[in-house]
Amino acid sequence: MKQTAIAPANIAFIKYWGTVDPSSRVPANNSISMNLSEMYTQTTVEFLPEYTSDKITFLGENEVRQKEKDRIANALHRVRKLAKSTLFAKIITRNTFPKATGISSSASGFASLATAAFGALGYPIGEKELSIFCRTLSGGSCRSIPDGFVEWEKGTGPTDSFAHQLYPSNYWNICDVVAVVSKTIKKVSSTDGHAKAYTSPFYESRMKGMDDKVMRLKDAMQKKDFNGFGSILEAEALNMHAICMTSVPPILYWEPPTVAVMRSVQKWREEKQLACYFTIDAGPTVHVICEKANAQTVAQLLRHLLDIQSVVVNNPAPGAHIVSTHLF
Ligand code: DP6
Repeated sequence: MKQTAIAPANIAFIKYWGTVDPSSRVPANNSISMNLSEMYTQTTVEFLPEYTSDKITFLGENEVRQKEKDRIANALHRVRKLAKSTLFAKIITRNTFPKATGISSSASGFASLATAAFGALGYPIGEKELSIFCRTLSGGSCRSIPDGFVEWEKGTGPTDSFAHQLYPSNYWNICDVVAVVSKTIKKVSSTDGHAKAYTSPFYESRMKGMDDKVMRLKDAMQKKDFNGFGSILEAEALNMHAICMTSVPPILYWEPPTVAVMRSVQKWREEKQLACYFTIDAGPTVHVICEKANAQTVAQLLRHLLDIQSVVVNNPAPGAHIVSTHLF
């Protein structure tokens, strides 16, 4: 009745921004991501008849908001319902990175919680079903289930919108060099951001170009055309943030060091011919994508910029899986 799971955060090359069905988190478009090797959540779940309520401990976290607790309570309720159990659980969870800063902590958090909880209840769940289940808890978490490089199909509705592997983690030696610029929790959650996406006058035009963009990115991945791939993902990040900034009311996720990193990346490309491209999720953290051969150079350059809190080099990683090291 006790299992531990590790699930990676993932970085989106094509973003999920806006849902057609907010209650079940069916997205407006397909998205593409890579799982991160060093940024993950580890969660241990134990169900026992003697527990009289669910008890969750977040190791190393000072601030746990009520909304977050409610989302977790709802997730456990849904796991129990599916697995036909009435038992309560003890849960301990930890992240290897700061949450709610643009490193998809809800993706790794919910993917690890669901994987461990179903495992602990002995409920057999396949990858597709688990991805669909996780999608309803936090959209991006459906992409933390399969291994490596992943596409989340928008599908036609709640039952066929799920993520599947495009390529295994050893397909392409590229890295996400993450520059953490702030540990302060963002003011506008992704969930609130998705709900406002439609208020941007540019949303329709973003959606018009989406299928073509997804196709072009997949084509560059298939050819391992790094510069083609990088140009698309950088433009896509700016496109998503243009929607955020023009939503009503506007959302600006960037901090001054975010912009400094963006400018530096473009300068390194021009002046040093260093092939690296930035992307940014819903937060101030910048993800610099480069080939593995350049990762240490990029990391060193980032460490020399002002106001960078930490720099972490991530390789492509496996999806959520059960491990034997428990947290209690
Ligand atoms: C900007 O998956 O965190 O990171 O479904 O409301 O939990 P909820 O949102 P979430 O949104 C992620 C948004 C993004 C882009 C992406 O990861 O595709």
